[in-house]
Amino acid sequence: MSTEAIFSIIPATWRDLHDLHRLEHLCFEQDAWSIIDILGVLTFPGVVRLKAVVDGKMVAFIGGETRDYQQTGWIITLGVLHDYRRQGIAKALIAECEQQLESRVMRLCVRASNQAAIDLYKQVGYIQVAIWPEYYRGGEDALVLEKVKDL
Ligand SMILES: CC(C)(COP(=O)(O)OP(=O)(O)OC[C@H]1O[C@@H](n2cnc3c(N)ncnc32)[C@H](O)[C@@H]1OP(=O)(O)O)[C@@H](O)C(=O)NCCC(=O)NCCS
Repeated sequence: MSTEAIFSIIPATWRDLHDLHRLEHLCFEQDAWSIIDILGVLTFPGVVRLKAVVDGKMVAFIGGETRDYQQTGWIITLGVLHDYRRQGIAKALIAECEQQLESRVMRLCVRASNQAAIDLYKQVGYIQVAIWPEYYRGGEDALVLEKVKDL
């Protein structure tokens, strides 16, 4: 798709299980979540789950949660289908997820080689605060990024 898509952001539900499973595999390959993890993000209480929809089809998804012991909001997954990238969809999903999670501090982790995602997160105000060595399958490090929301 070459033209800009008009998208809306709406809550996802368990009915999106199949579509999210497909999106995860297309976006994450070896890091794709299992069907059990996907069911969890779509059903666990307190999880923010949002999808971007174009012409009735899910083209992107973000999941976020608050880890109470840290009082920190975490973006736990974010993926946009290839044909819908570079149209501001991820940015819009992050903004909405940040707004729905009440914690002032937001965090996420990202593969050290995932420059597209790192550029995205830096553009919206995240900075690196830690490295988790060999966190990912295959032994790649995770960068932990953080943003302190404006009050
Ligand atoms: C990373 C990802 C979520 C970005 O989604 P997106 O909808 O294309 O991102 P946006 O259009 O909102 O991009 C906003 C900004 O992020 C940066 N960015 C996004 N993709 C980029 C890329 N491929 N290369 C360089 N910068 C990029 C740019 O600064 C961009 O602004 P611009 O288009 O005005 O230059 C998407 O590429 C994706 O799903 N990748 C596979 C899954 C993944 O890596 N998820 C993140 C795991 S932590």
